[in-house]
Amino acid sequence: MSRERKILDLKARQDIAKLGGGIQAIEKQHKKGKLTARERIELLLDKDSFEEIDMFRINKGDAFGVSDKQIYGDGIITGYGSIHGRLVFVFSYDFTVYGGSLSQVVAEKVVKVQEMAAKVGAPIIGINDSGGARIQEGVDSLAGYTSIFLRNVLQSGVIPQISAMVGPAAGGAVYSPALMDFIFMVRKTSFMFLTGPKIVKTVNHEDVTSDQLGGADVHASKSGITHFTFDDEKSLFDGIRELLTFLPQNNMEEPPYKETDDPWDREDENLNYIVPENPHKPYDMKEVVHSILDENYFLEVMELYAQNVIVGFGRLNGKVVGIVANQPKVLAGVLDSKASVKAARFIRFCDCFNIPVITFEDVPGFMPGTVEEYNGIIRHGAKMLYAYAEATVPKITVITRKAYGGAFCVMNSKHLRGDVVYAWPMAEIAVMGPQGASEIIFKKEITAAEDPEKKLAEKVDEYREKFANPYVAAGKGIVDEVIEPKITRYKLIKAMEMLHNKRDQNPPKKHGNIPL
Ligand code: HXC
Repeated sequence: MSRERKILDLKARQDIAKLGGGIQAIEKQHKKGKLTARERIELLLDKDSFEEIDMFRINKGDAFGVSDKQIYGDGIITGYGSIHGRLVFVFSYDFTVYGGSLSQVVAEKVVKVQEMAAKVGAPIIGINDSGGARIQEGVDSLAGYTSIFLRNVLQSGVIPQISAMVGPAAGGAVYSPALMDFIFMVRKTSFMFLTGPKIVKTVNHEDVTSDQLGGADVHASKSGITHFTFDDEKSLFDGIRELLTFLPQNNMEEPPYKETDDPWDREDENLNYIVPENPHKPYDMKEVVHSILDENYFLEVMELYAQNVIVGFGRLNGKVVGIVANQPKVLAGVLDSKASVKAARFIRFCDCFNIPVITFEDVPGFMPGTVEEYNGIIRHGAKMLYAYAEATVPKITVITRKAYGGAFCVMNSKHLRGDVVYAWPMAEIAVMGPQGASEIIFKKEITAAEDPEKKLAEKVDEYREKFANPYVAAGKGIVDEVIEPKITRYKLIKAMEMLHNKRDQNPPKKHGNIPL
């Protein structure tokens, strides 16, 4: 073959490879309202930045006629490119080839980019649309999955790992995303479950659709598996591009700084009035969070799950921060199992990737009762405690109102190595809320009184006056400063500047034993 023909032959092969499972399969994919694996990469990455690896890999299997149906790429497209000019690695399952199922070759291709990403310290994004283990390959496929899981774990906390769910993810296909840092799902066309509706029907006699079992809304609000949900694939990929603007490339880097015109000493008079005079009345903590962040912009994570705690990213004077906040508007901001786990995982992510944690606290305590005790609130609450205690990034707390009992200790208190703890003048910091505390410590006086209810009310007022304020804690150095709410942004930015070169570490060990 002449050189010219060889070059033409290469181009022809590239064109074939780019068609994956063929034109008909691509049309079928589009009819289902889904994009192809290549179209997705185009949407995710900066224009023309994609460099493909392993385009010509073919299947090794010989069972059930697989060797007669050799397709370049074998059901996955892998490579690297850039997002906002920063390097990322990507793998995108191609549903047009054996339903995007995972063969040994597919696994080898994924592992190759996983290892490259870790070596050069860049985020990796997996785009998932797959029928799970390639059934024809049996145990080779299982071994392949396992080799991917291993890299997911070894690279956890080294490079950010993100999963886009844009089709089915059944069986083995769910565990790699589950081991990654963030899961993005699209409504209607994506679902995740270990066993599909048919098996559920046989085993559990339960009638359930794919969407009811593992759709985006279910995982966003009920299971807490997914972190972000979108109506269409384009918005989902824009969402991933945005999230990456808050993340460093790897655990050795700082998150990217972003210039801002928002004055660092901007005051917000509204914050002086946001906490209602009546301590039983709720307010929206998101207003506080938005108010203090640059351009009032907050990227909320897991917005629909355990809404009694709020987590997400923002910036203070250009520097990325992670926010953890109680939400008095939902269940009075009480900490239950779901909220504790949600916050714990977020804090640990921030600590892995050098993102300071800012905590806004208004918490009446942990949720009492059999439901939560049987759920293991002790163990789950301990996760949050553990996460705050082990984190060595800058940690700042603002107590806006209630800080009672164990929940006070847990929410980044001074004795958990909280670097700076501010309180607003409306803060109530004590072992218990005034009602519960008075019923216990003044029990004799109350029962002996002519009008026990009146007596209790008097005692509650007395207790509140004496203990439910920030000055007892400030007098003991447990609160560093009581601040006027309107200058909270200014105070946080000052504290962040002071903590810029913070160095702290944990004792050398193999790893801790977080109460899972
Ligand atoms: C090989 C597969 C496949 C698979 C789908 N295909 N899944 N081929 N292995 N796992 C093929 C189909 O045969 C079909 O080929 C093409 O992909 C498209 O599939 P359809 O069924 O036509 O598509 P759709 O109706 O959209 O349904 C998609 C689906 C369904 C819901 C994913 O295909 C399905 O239920 N697949 C099986 C899912 C599953 O149980 N996987 C194994 C999980 S066990 P043709 O040639 O007709 O186009 C597992 C164990 C790992 O993963 C555990 C590790 C921890």
